[in-house]
Amino acid sequence: MTTINKQIHLVRRPVGEPTEACFALVEKTLGDPGPGQVLVRNRFLSLDPYMRGRMDEAKSYAQPQALNEVMVGATSGEVLVSNHPDFKAGDTFAAKFGLGWQTHAIVKGEHIIKVDASRVPLSYYVGLLGMPGATAWYGTMKILEPAAGQTLVVTAATGAVGGVVGQLAKAHGARVVGIAGGTAKCDYAVREMGFDACIDYKAPGWKEAFKAATPDGVDRVFENVGGEIFDTILARMNPFGRIAVCGLISGYNGTPMPIANFRSVLVNKLRIQGFIISDHLEFWPQAHKELADLVTAGRLKYRESVAEGLESAPGAFLAMLKGGNFGKQIVRL
Ligand SMILES: NC(=O)c1ccc[n+]([C@@H]2O[C@H](COP(=O)([O-])OP(=O)(O)OC[C@H]3O[C@@H](n4cnc5c(N)ncnc54)[C@H](OP(=O)(O)O)[C@@H]3O)[C@@H](O)[C@H]2O)c1
Repeated sequence: MTTINKQIHLVRRPVGEPTEACFALVEKTLGDPGPGQVLVRNRFLSLDPYMRGRMDEAKSYAQPQALNEVMVGATSGEVLVSNHPDFKAGDTFAAKFGLGWQTHAIVKGEHIIKVDASRVPLSYYVGLLGMPGATAWYGTMKILEPAAGQTLVVTAATGAVGGVVGQLAKAHGARVVGIAGGTAKCDYAVREMGFDACIDYKAPGWKEAFKAATPDGVDRVFENVGGEIFDTILARMNPFGRIAVCGLISGYNGTPMPIANFRSVLVNKLRIQGFIISDHLEFWPQAHKELADLVTAGRLKYRESVAEGLESAPGAFLAMLKGGNFGKQIVRL
C-alpha cells in the first residue's frame, strides 16, 4: 500500500519577518509500516511561536529547523495501520515529540501515546493538554505561585498559554489583569475567562489604563511578550514581586527590546525566572490531569483558532505571530 503524504518544508530562512516564501508544500510517498511501527494520519497540528525561533540559525535552547525538511510541530491524530502490539487501527494518539507539518507519518509505536478523545476533543492534545497547557501550568503553579491578595499580570492574555495562566491564577485567588491586542480579546478575557481587567495595548492611552487597573501595583507577572509592554509592567512592580519569563514574542523577528525600568529589579528586589517547558517534563502529567479536570468540569474556558488544511498552515502561522489567532492556533489536517 502506498500513501501520499503532504508536508510543509522550510525552504528559506527569514530575514526579519517571515513570509510564505519561506515554506513549500511537498508530496512524498509512504510505504507500509515495518515491525513495531505505525502508519498514522495527523488530524491536528499545533502552530506555536517557538517555531519562529527554529527558523533562524542562531544558537538557542534547541537545534534550528533543518532546511528542506518537514517543519517541526506537535500533532494528534489517528492510527491507520499498526504493527505495534499497543495500537490498533482507529486508535487516537498524540505524538510524543510532534510529527511535524505533515498529513501522515510512519513512526515507532513508542513515539506516540494513546489518548482518550471522548472526554476532551482530540485537538486539545496539541494545546491545553499538550506543550502550551503544561507551560501555563508550570509557570503559574511552580514559579509564580499566585495567592489571594496578589495582583498577577499576564501578557498575550487570550493566547494558548496566557488564557490558561489567567484562569489558573484566578482559581488560586489572585486578582488577574491581562494585556492583549484589541477590544474583542480583552472583552473575552473579562467576560468569558473571568479576568478582573484586561488592557488593550493597541489602544491609545493604554499605559494609563494599565496603571489604573493595577492600583495596588503588581506582584506576579507571566511574561509572554517583552519589549515596551514588559517595560511598562516593570515600572508597576511591588517589592519582592516575581516574574516568570515564558516568551518574548515582540522580539522574535529581531526587533531590539531596550528596557528603561530595569532599576525596578533592584529596588523592588524582584525574582525573575526564565523557563523552557521541555526542561520540566516530570510535571506534564500532573499539569494535564489538573487542566483536563478543570476543562471537563466547565471551570476553564479553552478557545481555539482553527485553520483548515495543511496548505493553510504557513499563512495561519504567520498571522498567529502577529495576533491573528484568538485562542490556541491549530490546523485541522
Ligand atoms: N518558555 C516556554 O517553554 C514556552 C512554551 C510555550 C510558549 N512560550 C511562549 O509563550 C508565549 C505565548 O505563546 P502561545 O503559544 O500561547 O501563543 P499565543 O499567545 O496563542 O499567540 C501569540 C500571541 O502573541 C501576541 N503578540 C504577537 N506579537 C506581539 C507583539 N509585538 N506585542 C504584543 N503581543 C504580541 C498576540 O496576541 P495579541 O493579539 O494579544 O497581541 C498573539 O496572539 C510566546 O512568547 C511563546 O514563545 C514559551
